[in-house]
Amino acid sequence: MRDLRQLPADRVLVSPSLLAADFNNLQQEIAAVTAAGADALHLDVMDGHLVPNISFGVPVIASLRKHSELLFDTHLMISEPARYAEVFAKAGADHLTFHIEAEGDTRETIAAIRKAGCTVGISLRPGTAAEAIFPYLGEIDLVLVMTVEPGFGGQKFMADQLGKLAAFKREIRRRNLAVRLEVDGGVDGRTAELVAANGADLLVAGTAVFRHPEGMAAGVRAIHAAQDRLDSAL
Ligand code: DX5
Ligand code: ZN
Repeated sequence: MRDLRQLPADRVLVSPSLLAADFNNLQQEIAAVTAAGADALHLDVMDGHLVPNISFGVPVIASLRKHSELLFDTHLMISEPARYAEVFAKAGADHLTFHIEAEGDTRETIAAIRKAGCTVGISLRPGTAAEAIFPYLGEIDLVLVMTVEPGFGGQKFMADQLGKLAAFKREIRRRNLAVRLEVDGGVDGRTAELVAANGADLLVAGTAVFRHPEGMAAGVRAIHAAQDRLDSAL
């Protein structure tokens, strides 16, 4: 099932970030993370322009598509997302998240992604206020709150972004919208609890899953466990 709107909405889900995988063995790494219980696969595309790093792009995603049935949760850290929406969709991306700080008219970018057949997300840097995305909430499927400066894996979680998560959750609830709240950067078993308590329901984790000392299944389990702790706190 590869439609973001069909993912279970009643529990915390994990989208492991491939950025932390062993790039020499991507097929095996994806098979392992799937067996470990990943709910989606987070693909970080960086153009060296919107963010100060370059990762991977269209041909890599097209190659992975042949070997995976996971939902490809694609995080476009690129300056011109509208221009590339169609090629990423054709390569096999199911969902495209772009940055509010990217170039181009936001509504035109949303339209380009819809036209390409993908669900739509908007992300924002730690320094950008939640209100920058509020006008578009009724037109998108997901908001991605960054809890590190985008560009690199393995950075420290920014707890000062928790208020922003809560603000999105309040606004989504107030308007009764079906918008998923995803969080990305420094998420592990410990910080998962904080973000889940503040309304996040789709948790990206790179280092904490692919490089978990006890293996990927332990990494996924630690993040899924945030749900149990939430339930017992109620
Ligand atoms: C950073 C990326 C993240 C990154 C997360 O720009 O968007 O998805 O891979 O890595 P960890 O989980 O290691 O912080
Ligand atoms: Zn990401």
